[in-house]
Amino acid sequence: MGVQTLDDLLARGVRGQRVFVRSDLNVPLRDGAVADDSRLCASLPTLRRLCEAGARVIVASHLGRPKGERVATLSLRPVAARLAQLLGAGVAFCDECVGEQPRAAIDELGAGRLLLLENLRFYAGEERNDPDFAKALAALADVYVNDAFGTAHRAHASTEGMTAHFDRVAAGDLLNSELRHLQVIREPNRPLLVILGGAKVSDKLSVLEALAPHADVLAIGGAMAYTFIAANGGATGKSLVEPDRFDAALAVQRAARDAGRRLLLPSDHVVADRFEADAPARVVAEIPDGALGLDIGPETAKRYAAEARNARTIFWNGPMGVFEMEAFAAGTRTVAAAVGDSPATSVVGGGDSLAAIHQLGLADRIDHLSTGGGASLEFVQGLTLPGVAALER
Ligand code: 3PG
Repeated sequence: MGVQTLDDLLARGVRGQRVFVRSDLNVPLRDGAVADDSRLCASLPTLRRLCEAGARVIVASHLGRPKGERVATLSLRPVAARLAQLLGAGVAFCDECVGEQPRAAIDELGAGRLLLLENLRFYAGEERNDPDFAKALAALADVYVNDAFGTAHRAHASTEGMTAHFDRVAAGDLLNSELRHLQVIREPNRPLLVILGGAKVSDKLSVLEALAPHADVLAIGGAMAYTFIAANGGATGKSLVEPDRFDAALAVQRAARDAGRRLLLPSDHVVADRFEADAPARVVAEIPDGALGLDIGPETAKRYAAEARNARTIFWNGPMGVFEMEAFAAGTRTVAAAVGDSPATSVVGGGDSLAAIHQLGLADRIDHLSTGGGASLEFVQGLTLPGVAALER
């Protein structure tokens, strides 16, 4: 069983054919315009190559989580405008994803032209992977391409259900490149350093469980570190902790130890008395009663940076502190700089980690910036992504 690439598809020719491309154009909007077009830029190569090959390209994506309702602020129309600017070519837009309206628009679509459909998640059938909705989507096209790595961990109608209706399916260039780069984390040059941050152990439990015995060093930051510290009887003051995850956190530590790996926790912290940007911050070794931890301390940041220097492969996901507040951003910045400076092969995923990398101008020092947060976490823990499995023939 294998997955066809865009090269395989183009080698057989697509001129004049209707090619449905599932992209992940789920980008932040501000004041009705695209605020960060990284995901659009990453999606361009596949779209360009198909247009150049003379395909009639039908692009579909979700935007946000409208839950089957038509939400005006989550229309993909502003994305069509930005996409047209980036492509330097017109992008037609259709308000509907299935039925007569897109059919007519596609009939009008010339070879090498592109049509963007409205937000797939305006239809309840998309997330439900409803067979009728999947069939109606598939009826629009002759060939199917999935390039939506960021959504490949979802078994939805446009990523999974509709593929069964096509003889010709392929992975786009972005999807392929993501899988190739992330495979390096599954089969790393060692030592492999995994840096995981974020608010909750519960959000990242499966990835912690999978990577604790796999990574040579697992360095933990963000509020989820406080659950580990509290589970070990340490002081966490008013910090966010999940008592119902203490056992799970201890089991993760045990798994690392049993496999001869190292799991690192913060040894100092930046704390404040309240969760506010202007709250006076101070560095402590032990979190006092009444204070809450909001970033890893400078000593911890230095330790994690030293691990980055020694690693041969690095995977980083999740901020080390409340990165969006200046007083609690230093830990994330130090880690970002260390990952950028390290000679290791580095892969970074997740919105906040990417924001830190961009803010520091380090993007070209990282080997791979993943467009998928949840999808990259699922892939590196060895899970099969439904959107990829659906392409196997
Ligand atoms: C993402 O932003 O991670 C992807 O677009 C998937 O979005 P979702 O988590 O709403 O499915």
